[in-house]
Amino acid sequence: MAPAMPPRPTPVTADADGRRGRFVVLEGIDGCGKSTQLQALAAWLPHSGLLPPTAELRITREPGGTALGQALRQLLLHPPGEAAPETTAELLLYAADRAQHVQQTIAPALAAGHWVLSDRYSGSTAAYQGHGRGLPLALIDQLEQIATGGLQPDLTLWLDLPLAEASRRRGDRRGGAQSDRIEAAGEAFLARVHQGFAQLAAERGWLPIAADQPPEQVSAACRQALLQRLTPQAEASAVAQV
Ligand code: TYD
Repeated sequence: MAPAMPPRPTPVTADADGRRGRFVVLEGIDGCGKSTQLQALAAWLPHSGLLPPTAELRITREPGGTALGQALRQLLLHPPGEAAPETTAELLLYAADRAQHVQQTIAPALAAGHWVLSDRYSGSTAAYQGHGRGLPLALIDQLEQIATGGLQPDLTLWLDLPLAEASRRRGDRRGGAQSDRIEAAGEAFLARVHQGFAQLAAERGWLPIAADQPPEQVSAACRQALLQRLTPQAEASAVAQV
């Protein structure tokens, strides 16, 4: 007998009352400038004209977008003593963080018509645990389905930064502070993750943003991408082309 599947979060793809919000995700390797760009988008979006008047903007992240997620983030990135998870446990903890995040934060916000901007989502698991750690991508796809209930972003921006530049920026950013457990996995690991992001961007239709430019130019490219993809006219013409 097939194993019982866990209950799915309410699907939010339906737009019956026209109130479903939009879900935007930023992805990229450590040091690509995601946090800076997230802040810039968060400041601009409410005045962009993209959000309907009643919609709020919810900023969130993975891991750590819920109270449970914050505890998981600590265990994943800065585990005490001997608590560092092995690769399969790491995969499951990221999936647990995401399941909680979708059910508690993302799906209800979208259903209420709000917009959600997330620092990372399921693409990070495919890139880090799949391409980086070498866990089977088919298994990761199945887990993603369980954790997200099939909820996909409306738009994913991939901040594409050459590996050497990302490494230099991480060094500058730390200024002597300890790297987290994932960053400490080494350059060969991050090279596989970077390659994985490039492959995922092509497979999943993410928009690549050249991140090796001054931050203001990267911000302008992000804004442009949202305006190109998420205005009602752009969405209507994308639907018409399917
Ligand atoms: P992030 O918050 O982007 O790092 P920082 O604190 O440096 O801004 O991400 C935390 C780390 O978690 C990052 O190294 C990538 C890793 N990660 C995975 O390995 N798998 C995942 O599914 C997610 C969401 C993150």
